[in-house]
Amino acid sequence: MHSPISGRNFLKLLDFSSEEIRFLIDTAKEFKRKKKAGESHRYLEGKNIVLLFEKTSTRTRCSFEVAGHDLGMSVTYLDPKSCQMGKKESIEDTAQVLGRMFDGIEYRGFGQEIVQCLADNAGVPVWNGLTDDFHPTQMIADMLTIEENFDTCFGKKLVFMGDAQNNVANSLMVVCAKMGMHFVACGPAEQMPAADLVATCTELAAQTGGSVTLCEDPIEACTGAHVIYTDIWVSMGEPMELWAERIRLLKPYQVTTELLDVMAPDGIFLHCLPAFHDLGTDIGREIQEQFGLSEMEVTDEVFRGPRSRVFDEAENRMHSIKAIMWATLTED
Ligand code: CP
Ligand code: NVA
Repeated sequence: MHSPISGRNFLKLLDFSSEEIRFLIDTAKEFKRKKKAGESHRYLEGKNIVLLFEKTSTRTRCSFEVAGHDLGMSVTYLDPKSCQMGKKESIEDTAQVLGRMFDGIEYRGFGQEIVQCLADNAGVPVWNGLTDDFHPTQMIADMLTIEENFDTCFGKKLVFMGDAQNNVANSLMVVCAKMGMHFVACGPAEQMPAADLVATCTELAAQTGGSVTLCEDPIEACTGAHVIYTDIWVSMGEPMELWAERIRLLKPYQVTTELLDVMAPDGIFLHCLPAFHDLGTDIGREIQEQFGLSEMEVTDEVFRGPRSRVFDEAENRMHSIKAIMWATLTED
């Protein structure tokens, strides 16, 4: 099989055409089928990849590790404490060193300019495993999950509730615009996406038959929605002091059954995870003690309810990251 993105970096979806994103979704579907059927797919035997994590992770790290092993590759994990990058060695020099040893580099961390600098200097494909601005690998899993529930993502309405200017919301706006979907950012004015990204995505959506809307009213936004999506109210790297302000701003945008009731009859709930939906976490318990809130961006009832597809979505991270690695590393 030929890949149209062989040798490319995967830094943000703005760099990819609708056809290339379609190719990745379809490739992820095929890898999922192979995995379930027990068909070997060690297409990248002998290659080596490195995973650089400056922020914590469960799904993304495990997905890169399992997908790498399934493809026959060896995988090295570097956490911030065991790596010189940024402290004793520049990002540029680190990229050159890693590029001499590895066939591909994953980076999760802070500024988009860091993953860009790695890509500019490594000479091998670099994959963005989440930055402050974007979370592109998550998007291929999300589109795959949507297409497992609806025939196509094209023409579907996806509403992002809450902190509509975070990395996941930004990436959803881009992927929806590229794939002809109707994206609605629903949150308070203070947390709406940046105007320049909205303008770019509005222009893209006009070419694909999609649309981009900003809406401050949850019921209006969710009416007829095929997908309601939310994410944590304070993202990694943001100060803990922000919780009080975010709870005040975002509590009206919590995903509740009231919102599910106005969705399309077959509408689904998605969340990239991790989620604060009960008191099963340290931070969740601290927030409850301080602010008296036992659920945050989504109620436990919605999270565990029949419309929720969050664990399919989490599994799909692995199949889609496998597709992204294969498509950029294959030399066929
Ligand atoms: N959704 C996601 O990226 O999860 P992790 O932070 O666990 O990798
Ligand atoms: N917006 C979240 C996504 C986690 C996968 C964060 O950056 O922490």
